[in-house]
Amino acid sequence: MKRIRHDGVVVVGAGLAGLTAALAAAPARVLLLTGAPLNQGCSSAWAQGGMAAALAADDTPELHAADTVAAGAGLVAPDMARLLAEEGPAAVRALAELGAPFDRTAGGDFAQSLEAAHSKARVVRVKGDQAGRAIMEAVSVAVLAARHIEVRTGCRLRGLLQDSDGRVRGVVAEQDGALTEITARATILATGGIGGLYAVTTTPAELTGDGLGLAALAGAVIADPEFVQFHPTAIDIGRDPAPLATEALRGEGAVLVNTDGERFMARYHPDAELAPRDVVARAIHAEREAGRGAFLDAREAVGSHFPDEFPAVFAACLSGGVDPRKQPIPVAPACHYHMGGIVTDAQGRTSLEGLYAAGECASTGVHGANRLASNSLLEAAVFGARAGAAARDAKDPGTRPLAPVVPPVLPTSGLQILRKAMSRDAGVVRDAEGLTRLLGVIDALEAGHGQAPALVAARLTAACALARTESRGGHFRSDATEQAAPRRTFVTLAEVSPALKYAAE
Ligand code: SIN
Repeated sequence: MKRIRHDGVVVVGAGLAGLTAALAAAPARVLLLTGAPLNQGCSSAWAQGGMAAALAADDTPELHAADTVAAGAGLVAPDMARLLAEEGPAAVRALAELGAPFDRTAGGDFAQSLEAAHSKARVVRVKGDQAGRAIMEAVSVAVLAARHIEVRTGCRLRGLLQDSDGRVRGVVAEQDGALTEITARATILATGGIGGLYAVTTTPAELTGDGLGLAALAGAVIADPEFVQFHPTAIDIGRDPAPLATEALRGEGAVLVNTDGERFMARYHPDAELAPRDVVARAIHAEREAGRGAFLDAREAVGSHFPDEFPAVFAACLSGGVDPRKQPIPVAPACHYHMGGIVTDAQGRTSLEGLYAAGECASTGVHGANRLASNSLLEAAVFGARAGAAARDAKDPGTRPLAPVVPPVLPTSGLQILRKAMSRDAGVVRDAEGLTRLLGVIDALEAGHGQAPALVAARLTAACALARTESRGGHFRSDATEQAAPRRTFVTLAEVSPALKYAAE
């Protein structure tokens, strides 16, 4: 195996968390490893919503933190939510200074929209649904211009290097079919979520929980992996990944109808289309399961303004032969965001020395059981910067012998089986029978292909979903619909290994 001795910080992943961490680690030398070129292959660039921050005169970080805690259904860490909300305005201003072209009022202030479960209009956006792409363009330019950062594309994370004390000392990366050991003073995982473990996802399909799985294999503590957020309105035009129809469309007055033309949401929740995201996702799931289908009708609410106001949604619909100015958009719930992840403190430090995590692969505790809309880019920016600064100051790792662990990769055939099983059994509606069946599928795949990181991430999700015999936030159990006393999940891979028989509580 080739070896590179890198004395600085290695960052894996080039979404907003990874790029922010890389910038914040200056003046330490940063090696940034990414599969796709910058601004491609990451969920951040696909974000249609925006970034929440208490910037308006009638808003405060306390109110933003309170909304974050309320959305998280009893499991948000309040001190972390407060930190996120307090640092939000500065994070938005810093991105604007880098060139992110946030919409402005006539007076030059940030224009802010109201989104579901926010008590104030506090989401900064870019031209309707362009926030993620525009923010990532600005940050990518800054990263490419930064002299302390070297970007390597075409790299896949294949393993972590650990020394005899368990300290993480770098990574094993695959590039052009060859493996390279890269040592580092500090390693930051910013590898995104687990959308690619589901048959229907709004995230890049390559995101199969590799960072989460590798951290778990190395012994890191994982929190709340059972909490997956399903977006109610992915556009159902047979594309993988499924393009998103942003919630802002319902905010503008678009309605949900079934094939009978019935506006069905009133049957499920008094707030109808503006009900919480998980309620809308389950309602759409139920309509589809009952054979009635589900469509987002934005003809009246948006109509001819589509190309200007929602260009990404408009283009996605047209690519599937649907003109949303004239036709309702077929929609389905899709895996959208993983609330759980590698446990970190406020500096992005994981339970393993030398290893940091930021963005969707991390669990800072700010999302609880259900993420508040437009808090994900904010979390990536705030905690990405904190992780970068902490990694810059990491202690010298010493010279103990290293033991690279490179687990197998799940082949495409196995991944297809897993994705179907995850959507069926660990999706919008779950029960003990389905989750037990899913764990059997994971066991069989592991027996055939070894302990691939994707299977580890899937096992953590399924086993903890089985163990959580209640319904809360994004986790709905049809066989346990009530809420139990609030408790977060903190778990290691050893605790959910087959030997422990996934005992439900
Ligand atoms: C959306 O625009 O509907 C998604 C926003 C988010 O996930 O925060």
